[in-house]
Amino acid sequence: MPRVLMVRDQQPRCQIEDIGDDQLPDRAVTVDIEYSDLNYKDAMAVTGKGKIVRDYPMVPGIDFAGTVRESSDDRYASGDQVILTGWGVGERYWGGYAETMRVDADWLVPCPDPMSTREAMQLGTAGLTAMLSVIRLEQAGLPAGSQVLVTGATGGVGSWAVQMLSHLGYAVHAVTGKPDQGQWLKALGAVEIHERAEFEADTRPLEKGRWAGVVDNVGGKMLANILAQMDYQGRVAAVGLTGGVELPTTVMPFILRGVSLLGTDSVMIPIQQRRVAWQRLAALPNDLFSKMHVDEIGLGQVSEVAEAMMAGKTYGRVLIDPHK
Ligand SMILES: NC(=O)c1ccc[n+]([C@@H]2O[C@H](COP(=O)([O-])OP(=O)(O)OC[C@H]3O[C@@H](n4cnc5c(N)ncnc54)[C@H](OP(=O)(O)O)[C@@H]3O)[C@@H](O)[C@H]2O)c1
Repeated sequence: MPRVLMVRDQQPRCQIEDIGDDQLPDRAVTVDIEYSDLNYKDAMAVTGKGKIVRDYPMVPGIDFAGTVRESSDDRYASGDQVILTGWGVGERYWGGYAETMRVDADWLVPCPDPMSTREAMQLGTAGLTAMLSVIRLEQAGLPAGSQVLVTGATGGVGSWAVQMLSHLGYAVHAVTGKPDQGQWLKALGAVEIHERAEFEADTRPLEKGRWAGVVDNVGGKMLANILAQMDYQGRVAAVGLTGGVELPTTVMPFILRGVSLLGTDSVMIPIQQRRVAWQRLAALPNDLFSKMHVDEIGLGQVSEVAEAMMAGKTYGRVLIDPHK
């Protein structure tokens, strides 16, 4: 009888329920979930503040990590440790806010050695996306040791991106709306902290070039202003929309400075690219995990923490133990 967090399109929106194994989806791999997590997209799904859930009732949770109980697919066997992120799980298909879930084998990646399932969810979609952004910037020729900017820096993607870019030797500037977290961002490796307001003023289509690379979690006017501040042939990984979906920019950064705007998606990224990213994540030193701020909660606290995340009041990562 797995315990799940069920979301319905009615009040109350979220309820913890015990369901029968026969109510789990009819899919190839049954996973006993050890950890899930809370991403911005999960917060939108749980609160109903974004049109994320495609089908009700829904077990949300776009990520989970756990141990295979049984599998009718040859690629996985009982006892294997696995990770799932994206593929529409927690949006179209039942997801990780459950003690047990049944999923397609195509959606899983093996948990890479020596990573634990807890560490996998300390990263989750946020850590995977930060690594995919780093790979995008590297492939677009980011010069070693250059000046890079991370927006939404205290968030899940942002704080992992700060740590990863700093670990790789870049001079990381962090943009945040939470200046009180400046010391923590410096402990993660940021060389300078910038207040969000600095990037929200009206600017000209081209400003003085400052950044060789950017990981942007915010979008909107902030992204437009950053494009105007890019160095010649600078590159920007566009990840998020916490500041809005519009992009009020001009063609000037692209045609006069050769700037590249690199779309970065973690949901449908092909399995080979995921495996490469997870191998790189598994090679990160332990101290990056110990420096990450993690709030660990149970299913009963998900609604409250999701509201706080939508209000911009969380930082670091939120880990979910579905057995709590
Ligand atoms: N493309 C993909 O595959 C992918 C994958 C993961 C996430 N995302 C997107 O990336 C973004 C970050 O996700 P996350 O899970 O890291 O979320 P998160 O942990 O909630 O972090 C978001 C951060 O954005 C900043 N922020 C919040 N509201 C803002 C506002 N109104 N204006 C400017 N900045 C604001 C805050 O950082 P500060 O207070 O430090 O400024 C906040 O901590 C979301 O938009 C998410 O949907 C996309």
